[in-house]
Amino acid sequence: MTHEAAWPSHGGQGAPLLARFGLPPDHPLLDFSANLNPLGPPAWVAARLAVAAEGLARYPAPDYRPAREAIAREAGVTAEQVLLTNGGAEAIFLTAAGHAGGRAVIVQPTFTEYARACRAFGLAVANRVLAAPEFRLDPERLAAALSPGSLLFLCRPNNPTASLVPRAAIERLLTLAALRGSRVVVDEAFIDFVTPPEESLAPLLARFDNLILLRSLTKLYALPGLRVGYLLASEPVVRQLQACQPPWSVNHLAADLVAPLLADGAFLARTQQWLSSEHPRLQSGLVAAGLEVVPSRANFFLVRPALEPRAASGQGHGAALFERLLRSGILARHTHGFRGLDGDWLRVALRDRAANDRLLAVLSEEDAP
Ligand SMILES: Cc1ncc(COP(=O)(O)O)c(C=O)c1O
Repeated sequence: MTHEAAWPSHGGQGAPLLARFGLPPDHPLLDFSANLNPLGPPAWVAARLAVAAEGLARYPAPDYRPAREAIAREAGVTAEQVLLTNGGAEAIFLTAAGHAGGRAVIVQPTFTEYARACRAFGLAVANRVLAAPEFRLDPERLAAALSPGSLLFLCRPNNPTASLVPRAAIERLLTLAALRGSRVVVDEAFIDFVTPPEESLAPLLARFDNLILLRSLTKLYALPGLRVGYLLASEPVVRQLQACQPPWSVNHLAADLVAPLLADGAFLARTQQWLSSEHPRLQSGLVAAGLEVVPSRANFFLVRPALEPRAASGQGHGAALFERLLRSGILARHTHGFRGLDGDWLRVALRDRAANDRLLAVLSEEDAP
């Protein structure tokens, strides 16, 4: 095998992994590494995009008013508390940009883009690593790391652990952070996949002006190529972060889709129905296949072979399982680069029933795991 740097830093990147393991580029792969809704995008999206394409000849209205109003209605905030962004990724980078040169605390293991955004804008980062497999967060201990003007990044439900910090702990953290003059950034990119469903923290914006919520529309609606997300915060914070955003950052096609996507309640209901049947089925199938599974509240699972994490050779069983799955046509998400996971764990997305069955069948083959 080659050196660590050859592990790609995001899911959905089969080609470099096939090359890394000496497999041909056309090796068939079922992708369990990207956490997208297998029911999406909604069927009407392609036709809507075709019609909206006529608007590509004009600049988008820079304030994205209709999209922001639709989001504000859904979230129960004012349109001035909404910043439309080029995916959740831009919301993360704008948050860091608005606090350039400051301090941040990142609750790990988590999505690696918080650290990258902090590096890009010169924030000094302190990591607080929660211990596997519970990943329990203690608000008092965490708050002790916060200093005036600092930012705390937290993902809920968390990628890649699929664990969900209880709402009461978040409220406590917001209170303690406010006392220390610190802002709390909660990334809710996967909140619509929480099972059983859990409400967004948006109503807390009325009580806590130190809360910044980040959302993505690309996961639920399976539109990662479109790039659309948003940020919710107090009006002054939104103005501060908007000042860092390039003009027309969100393209016309993405902005045009926001209101109809949010209005498609039937799609969300179908998604929640799929989750309620497939999620427990895959969770128990993974356990039955001999894996340790972190209790999941999201549309993905963090797993590892229920064996000692490392063999005497130093090769982790998680890394060995990753390779075996890849050779059998299953692309899992490795966890090299995630603090506290270090490649021992793998993340697998919840997919449609047939794909999930294939994963379970491969896992229960003779030499598994
Ligand atoms: C936790 C989390 N937040 C934000 C994003 C960014 O999503 P997007 O920019 O596609 O909206 C991702 C993508 O994987 C993610 O995992």
